[in-house]
Amino acid sequence: MIGHGAPMAPWTVTHAATPPSLDHADAWALHGLELASRRCERALWGHEDHTYRAASALGRLLDRSFAEHHYLVATPPEGVGDPGAVDGFAAMMMPRGDNAHLAWLDVWVRPERRREGLGRRLLGEVEAIARADGRTTFLLATAHAREAPTHDADALVPPTGAGRIRASDAAARFALRAGYRLEQGERLSILRIPVRPEVLDPLHAGALTAAGDAYRPVAWVGDTPDEMVDDVALLLTHAGSDAPTAGLDLREDRWTAERVRQHELQARTAGRRIRIVGALHEASGRLVGLTTVSTNEAVPEAVEQGYTIVLAEHRGHRLGMLVKAEMLRLLGDDAPLARRLRTSNAEENAHMLAINVALGFRPHGVHGMWQKVAR
Ligand SMILES: CC(C)(COP(=O)(O)OP(=O)(O)OC[C@H]1O[C@@H](n2cnc3c(N)ncnc32)[C@H](O)[C@@H]1OP(=O)(O)O)[C@@H](O)C(=O)NCCC(=O)NCCS
Repeated sequence: MIGHGAPMAPWTVTHAATPPSLDHADAWALHGLELASRRCERALWGHEDHTYRAASALGRLLDRSFAEHHYLVATPPEGVGDPGAVDGFAAMMMPRGDNAHLAWLDVWVRPERRREGLGRRLLGEVEAIARADGRTTFLLATAHAREAPTHDADALVPPTGAGRIRASDAAARFALRAGYRLEQGERLSILRIPVRPEVLDPLHAGALTAAGDAYRPVAWVGDTPDEMVDDVALLLTHAGSDAPTAGLDLREDRWTAERVRQHELQARTAGRRIRIVGALHEASGRLVGLTTVSTNEAVPEAVEQGYTIVLAEHRGHRLGMLVKAEMLRLLGDDAPLARRLRTSNAEENAHMLAINVALGFRPHGVHGMWQKVAR
């Protein structure tokens, strides 16, 4: 327990334990985090598609091989142990190995308990944990249901010039007040699925033609076949380093075969299924591009887009479109309950956005990416 007896606020902040299962009494904090997250998500988006789930949090707590996760929940002192009493929570992720200088932080407060100092308290607690671990760069992602209109002279625009955040949004005020700088805007987009064949089929056929005989799509659900796991690790490393990162101090984040396997295991623990469509280069037998999506058995209608990457030397053959269009056809066949696919792209990532727009993705809010370098 942290901050016990602190005079500043009527909350007790509890550092979530790592229970052996979600049935265990110690899992109350993770269940409370999910309940509070549902409330916040509904208030922000009008749906609960992307709620923090207790099962995902447990999967991350149990696996410390490539990143360390912490979850803090705030309750009134008498509410410790009661999931329904959680008024707010903080989540943090500290990469191990590469990017060991940074910590990703996230703070959520139930709408009815905002402007009482709880957000500031929770952020302070996770920043302190990060600092004690030697982290010097703190990152926050704020979520905004709408982009600021172009005529809004007060809109916050990152140095990239792309993406506009409403200066009046609570999350923006909060981040600024806590000393963070807006570095990047990400466009959130949603695609209604299944995509109508009259839209999808010509895009798929055009991409197949452009790829010609040199490339072939390959697909699987769950564990990556052994012979492709090194290729997938290389592609995921590039997915991190090739995407625009603006002024965020994100350094190379290497994936290995072992990390791919851990990632698959973590997804299984959380009830998620990862689907991958790759582009196989016939001449070399190597995968040179891929796209990943994740489905969650708890919300089968909401699918989350993961990484999409084509190696630089294989760009210009519409492989990005090919893997994404192929994925949408597969989802239509074997995820029949799927209705929405959500993705998030840096607003300056013109090539990726062009593919998404052609497929029918429509804007659905913005992420502000904020950074604070600790002194
Ligand atoms: C952002 C959020 C966590 C703030 O939580 P909170 O408990 O209301 O924040 P606090 O009361 O500790 O506010 C701290 C400071 O932030 C600023 N602030 C927060 N909300 C604000 C608002 N609606 N308008 C203006 N300033 C605001 C103020 O400077 C405030 O200090 P003050 O009250 O002394 O003026 C909360 O609004 C939330 O959960 N939003 C949705 C989730 C999200 O976007 N999180 C950000 C990702 S880290």
